[in-house]
Amino acid sequence: MTAVVSNRDKVTYGEVSNYYHSNKIIFGFKYLYKWILERLASSVPVPSWRAKLHKMRGVNIGENVYIGYDVVFDRIHPELITVGDYAEIGDRCILSAHSRGSLTTRQAYPRTADPIRIGRGVCVNPGCIITQGVEIGENSIIGIGSVVTRDISPNSLALGYPARVVKKLDGVGELQT
Ligand SMILES: CC(C)(COP(=O)(O)OP(=O)(O)OC[C@H]1O[C@@H](n2cnc3c(N)ncnc32)[C@H](O)[C@@H]1OP(=O)(O)O)[C@@H](O)C(=O)NCCC(=O)NCCS
Repeated sequence: MTAVVSNRDKVTYGEVSNYYHSNKIIFGFKYLYKWILERLASSVPVPSWRAKLHKMRGVNIGENVYIGYDVVFDRIHPELITVGDYAEIGDRCILSAHSRGSLTTRQAYPRTADPIRIGRGVCVNPGCIITQGVEIGENSIIGIGSVVTRDISPNSLALGYPARVVKKLDGVGELQT
């Protein structure tokens, strides 16, 4: 008989519900609720509504934040991500706060999770990937399509794969109205 879900899904689901010390059925309902919010947040047309929906999922989002379309804030651990006031996250960025191997590579890469912090006023251009544990200092800019695997100091322009600071930015941080 064909199983409703694969063994892989069962193992992963068990791991994650244990991580949250949660009853599997309650966890399943919460997961479903957050999944609906995430699908809506990916596509509603008003940026501040997208921010609000991601906030409802558990992402820590400050005031006056711009969130683009189809941004993936860790689907399992949204609460590990913080986005400071006035920060902007472009379309199709991925912020992944956890890591793990497949069922056959878990010994080398067990499940781990680490917070991601995006500072005040940071601008992450479209298509960037930010890995677990990374902090981007305030008023920095990350060039389009970059992969950020290490902390970026404040007031920096960082680019590339892996992202490296190529320039320090003068005169940033003051609010333009
Ligand atoms: C942040 C950004 C504007 C920086 O641009 P910049 O300071 O003007 O940099 P330059 O265009 O002068 O390029 C300087 C060098 O960095 C390289 N570079 C620029 N952006 C890069 C990136 N995202 N990744 C890798 N290299 C990049 C350039 O090829 C150039 O290399 P070279 O000196 O060997 O020719 C740019 O990376 C970016 O993200 N542009 C897209 C902005 C965008 O689409 N925004 C959408 C808003 S909704």
